[in-house]
Amino acid sequence: MSNVIVIGAQWGDEGKAKIVDWLAEAAHWVIRCQGGCNAGHTVKHHGETFKFHLIPSGLLYENKTCIIGSGTVIDPDVLRREMTDIESRGYSLQRLVISNRAHLTLPYHKAMDLAYESKLAEKAGCKTIGTTGRGIGPTYMDKVGRLGLRTGDLLESDAVLRARLEEILTLKAPLLEAFEVDVPTVDALFAWCQDHAAALKPYIGDTVPLLDAAQQAGDSLLFEGAQGTLLDVDYGTYPFVTSSNATAGGICTGSGIGPTAMHHTVGVMKAYTTRVGEGPFPTELTEAVGQHLQTIGQEFGTTTGRTRRCGWFDGVLGRYSVQVNGLTSIALTKLDVLDGLDEIKLAVAYKNKATGEVTTQFPASLHQLQDVEPVYDTLPGWVGHKVEGITEWQQLPPQAQALIARIEALLGVPVSILSVGPERDQTMVRIDPFQSNTASLKGSAVNSLPQPALVTSR
Ligand code: GDP
Ligand code: IMO
Ligand code: MG
Repeated sequence: MSNVIVIGAQWGDEGKAKIVDWLAEAAHWVIRCQGGCNAGHTVKHHGETFKFHLIPSGLLYENKTCIIGSGTVIDPDVLRREMTDIESRGYSLQRLVISNRAHLTLPYHKAMDLAYESKLAEKAGCKTIGTTGRGIGPTYMDKVGRLGLRTGDLLESDAVLRARLEEILTLKAPLLEAFEVDVPTVDALFAWCQDHAAALKPYIGDTVPLLDAAQQAGDSLLFEGAQGTLLDVDYGTYPFVTSSNATAGGICTGSGIGPTAMHHTVGVMKAYTTRVGEGPFPTELTEAVGQHLQTIGQEFGTTTGRTRRCGWFDGVLGRYSVQVNGLTSIALTKLDVLDGLDEIKLAVAYKNKATGEVTTQFPASLHQLQDVEPVYDTLPGWVGHKVEGITEWQQLPPQAQALIARIEALLGVPVSILSVGPERDQTMVRIDPFQSNTASLKGSAVNSLPQPALVTSR
């Protein structure tokens, strides 16, 4: 039995779902813990593409129980569309459970998200966040402000639900009016709730005893993070962040499972960096190489279709991510996208543009971050070779192996999984988190790590 966390270790879209999909075979349960339908998680299997927003990526396996955990926020319209879509493709929803503690994104949350963004856009000197427009921030604001509606409220008697809606709208109406957002009547919101309750009731339940029983039975749990460390509301590039804890701590609060139960935390990182939305990005590339990464990597947002900004791998950000998550290893994705580049850069430090001061610490201050330029190590590419299609570690070009070794040395943790394409079988696993006691690997001298036998399939 092993419990494994998979989280984004950059700005999201690192390929978490692909890694979760590979690892899920060995797990009994796959659990989403935070975020909502701002997430876009792509799995490619046998040429078919699946885009998940709220349903855990483990649903593609028949025998996994998939949980949408208490820390998530759920837009029931999006969830029901996703459920219909996946069912129409022949997958069963019988093993889907939605926590009765998860909060609901109501229609006015989406309207408020757009209203906030347009208020920022129209005022000189203000900057928009570039949210996904899915109502995520306003839903979490109401959760923390004790004005939220939970999935469990849909199971209450009509009288109890109606009374809760009256309470919420009494406090909410003046705020909505101030932003010129339509205030629903209690009757209209009640009808909206009834419609969703009828469809979702069979799936809503208390996930705490379920997950406790799973642990008592010795089942293996796989936690599917959403967004990424630098989008975390506490540790990200605030205010250009999402509104949940996308770091490993958020997995515990969002699932209701304490940190003592966790055995391994895998941070997913691309072999370069991307970001969608606004905010600082020290290694961003706007010219030819950035174009290469964007085009070859097909860097378009899974949820909004927006073009993702691209740049070199950032080792300062990467090490910070190891620190704030306690990562035990890295899943390095999209190495194939670097095929064809004659040189590859890695940021190893930041230099203040005005003072020349060099630091290897990721700054909390946005202004400091905006004032730095990266200090790069330049490594040779592997022109004339391709990593795409390689399934054996030993067949990787020596330059690719050297790049991975440099990343491991920079981060101080091993690369346990290497991804060289979007398909499930384009994955090389050096250390399988479900088969090893890898907690002890953290801080180990990665350069002297034994090269374990490769596991390319179970
Ligand atoms: P997530 O949000 O972290 O799950 O990532 P997304 O699904 O939003 O974006 C990652 C994209 O990269 C998806 O289109 C994946 O199919 C794709 N992908 C994942 N791993 C690889 C890889 O190793 N190589 C290539 N070329 N594509 C990959
Ligand atoms: P996955 O799980 C990449 C970004 C948005 C915006 C900021 C705030 O697919 O990696 P929000 O709608 O959350 O209030 O937007 O966060 N963002 C993501 N970027 N991947 C995601 O999820 C994201 N979820 C939110 O672009 O910059
Ligand atoms: Mg994504």
